[in-house]
Amino acid sequence: MTSVRERLSVLVASAFLPEVEAEIANAFDATFEATSQPALTIRGSDREFDAVLVSLDAPMPAEAIDSLPESVRAIATYSVGTDHIDLVAARTRGIAVFNTPGVLSDSVAENAIFLMLGAARRATESIALIRDRKWPGWNPRQLVGVELSGRRLGILGLGDIGIRIATRAQALGMEILYCNRRRITGDEDRGFAFRASPEELIAEADVFMIATPSTPETRGLVDTELLRHAHSGSILVNIARGDIVDDEALIQALSEGRVWAAGLDVFAGEPNVAAGYFDLPNVFMLPHIGSSTIEARLRMGRILIEALEAWRRGRAPANRVC
Ligand code: 8YV
Repeated sequence: MTSVRERLSVLVASAFLPEVEAEIANAFDATFEATSQPALTIRGSDREFDAVLVSLDAPMPAEAIDSLPESVRAIATYSVGTDHIDLVAARTRGIAVFNTPGVLSDSVAENAIFLMLGAARRATESIALIRDRKWPGWNPRQLVGVELSGRRLGILGLGDIGIRIATRAQALGMEILYCNRRRITGDEDRGFAFRASPEELIAEADVFMIATPSTPETRGLVDTELLRHAHSGSILVNIARGDIVDDEALIQALSEGRVWAAGLDVFAGEPNVAAGYFDLPNVFMLPHIGSSTIEARLRMGRILIEALEAWRRGRAPANRVC
């Protein structure tokens, strides 16, 4: 590893919570400058940086990484997802990339359950009815939703977050199906039934949960063809990345009732949201708040501080992506 300073010089390219920034300032020679173009900021600065701390709002595509000065040897991202960083370019430059696995999984899993319940219990219509002061009072036909207990939850991508969703859903009395590139050890012992393809999974699932990273293989995976296998009355939840779903295909399926409802925390081209979703009362939307808890936010900062510090000392932190 090229030598780095005793006290790392770090550009902090996103605005983090004051508590997190205080811990970063305590650990590093930090420059706080929120920017959507960290590489440009680094090149324009008269300071030399060893590392840059980014998140979704400060992406690092290939051209940005290729333009980084030699001094920059590490990128730390305030996210578990790394689809906003060109890992191939980083690897080619020998730049280490660190992310935040595990420390946000409980928060994201809780949010997944929230989205599932929000869709199942028609939260969008309910909140609108009461907030628009249009509630005529209780009646037996009002906003009848569905129970999750006894239903099948199909998880596309049973990784750390997926497993935490599964165990919480089991507590709600749900049966767990999943589809992964590889089966997980002891799946049946844990009550997780493997399905070999997304088609099989969506055909059987009462709730289809997208919990897989956004990769060249998964982008656009949930399209008209896959949604054709969904059974009417099913619910779709996306807690991963918006570009895994073909928005027009999902909007079509929701408007035709081939998919009964959806719970969405992520959208292709955030913060833009496909217009069609706004016309659909059976879509419960949240603005990418999966890991938006004080607990996760503090832990996300700490795991990156520890990783950069370990890396500086020549160690190999577990959350090194490349
Ligand atoms: C982050 C996320 O908050 O970790 C991820 O991949 O999507 C969220 O938890 C977001 O990416 C901000 O960086």
